[in-house]
Amino acid sequence: MKLPAMFDNLLTVAVTCLQFGDTGKGKIVDLLGSWAKIIVRGTGGANAGHTIRLGKSEYIFHLIPSGILHDADGKINIIGNGTVIDPRILCEEIAFLQQQGLPCNHLMLALNANLTLPTQVARDRVGEGEAGAGKIGTTGRGIGPTYGDHVIRIGLKINDLLNPDILFAKVKANVAFSVRVLASYDPEMVKAILRQAYLGGGMFYHPEKMFDVDAIVRKYLEYGKILAPFIRDTDAFVRQNVGKCRMLFEGAQGTLLSVKHGTSPFVTSSDCTVNGLAEGAGLNRSHIQLALGIIKGFYETRVGEGPFPTEFGGDASAVWCSSANRELEKEKFAGATVNDKNELNRGVALRVAGNEYGATTKRPRRTGRLDLPLLRHALLSGSNDIVLTKLDVLNDCDEIQICDSYVYMGQPYRYGDRTISLGDNLEVAIPAAEVLWHCRPLYQTFPGWKRSLGGINAYGDLPGELIDILTFVMLRTGINPRIISTGADREETIFV
Ligand code: IMP
Repeated sequence: MKLPAMFDNLLTVAVTCLQFGDTGKGKIVDLLGSWAKIIVRGTGGANAGHTIRLGKSEYIFHLIPSGILHDADGKINIIGNGTVIDPRILCEEIAFLQQQGLPCNHLMLALNANLTLPTQVARDRVGEGEAGAGKIGTTGRGIGPTYGDHVIRIGLKINDLLNPDILFAKVKANVAFSVRVLASYDPEMVKAILRQAYLGGGMFYHPEKMFDVDAIVRKYLEYGKILAPFIRDTDAFVRQNVGKCRMLFEGAQGTLLSVKHGTSPFVTSSDCTVNGLAEGAGLNRSHIQLALGIIKGFYETRVGEGPFPTEFGGDASAVWCSSANRELEKEKFAGATVNDKNELNRGVALRVAGNEYGATTKRPRRTGRLDLPLLRHALLSGSNDIVLTKLDVLNDCDEIQICDSYVYMGQPYRYGDRTISLGDNLEVAIPAAEVLWHCRPLYQTFPGWKRSLGGINAYGDLPGELIDILTFVMLRTGINPRIISTGADREETIFV
């Protein structure tokens, strides 16, 4: 698909999500992949899942950048320093590409990316298992402990895979720390988790010492052999090439899950904004000429726990989604429609229409209306250049609600030099869970467009109802739509 002339004058474009992730970055990165020479991921790890459609096939990658499908054209894909890498998963993805006959000859892995160990996966899972009501609903991929160990200086880097003695010493130290942490939990639960298939079915478990250091090192040296051809000083490479050839920066998760700017503490452990992405790629924000922020066309989803003021069906939806799966849902909500009087049913029908099930964990994503207070907050650390995706999901809706502000319903809350009081109207969300739990959304209701968007490839041909909603959102937030995606295929894209 031909990109508009605007892209001819650009050398650096970033794509991040301004919501809770899962906004369809994969399609946009894939689309812009033909424009770029170098595609870089800078944050997150195997918690992400990019679904890429190519003709009738679908590919789900967790670590490899979405631009890998352009490898055959000589494009370079980089996994940058800000990511967390579980080498087992990366090795599996590389093997999968090879089996499919898809090349990854130009893949580079940052020597200073963070290395996930079985200890960190175990701590993530054990911590969540014991957290009760306080659990975050993580993906169980060891993301938080890997970033945490980096910050407290007991983490490992990818380069350690290339130096056996150093690897051994660092694994040993990390195991010693992890054993001290895990010793405070129920030993039977720890044992059960260490024997999960995800952790090699007990391959790293030691009945007396909890972890078998030799087994970890042995396996990790094997991974190191597979990954060695890809390990590079990518920071130096990116800095040498910035400004010389076209680079695309691929975000992971979303601003509302950012450890710095998200709905704390229900967040992931990296900075998912364009700032975090640029740094995790080896640069800084000033290198990015066009920062595209993605939102879903007039709705929103969230996976895992945490406040979600505009959720269809509120708490009932959150509770259902925390333990349901697609099959159960099909059975229990067989007749639900997107125009259902019952909100919970409406949310389920939207989930089905948008295929909103986690690419990584298969969990049902909680669904809700587009939330402008949260968007205004996200825009503070992003830019106003927006990509709207998945608009076709709302084709059958009789009406579409947009949350324009909240009424605060909680106890007086000191926020720096302000006090938020019962009944206050909030136009910009305060990203703290203790506030968001008590925010009641106020909605503007619009008629839906009630027709297919198929075949529309010019902004002016979009239904009037859709343009009215978009105009409202633009006026109320200052966003500047650049790309509008009306379906999963590359061709179903409008450049504005
Ligand atoms: P973690 O990143 O596995 O530690 O999970 C922390 C929170 O981020 C949980 O609520 C996850 O559901 C959420 N999360 C992590 N990765 C993604 C993603 O790719 N899409 C949506 N939510 C995610």
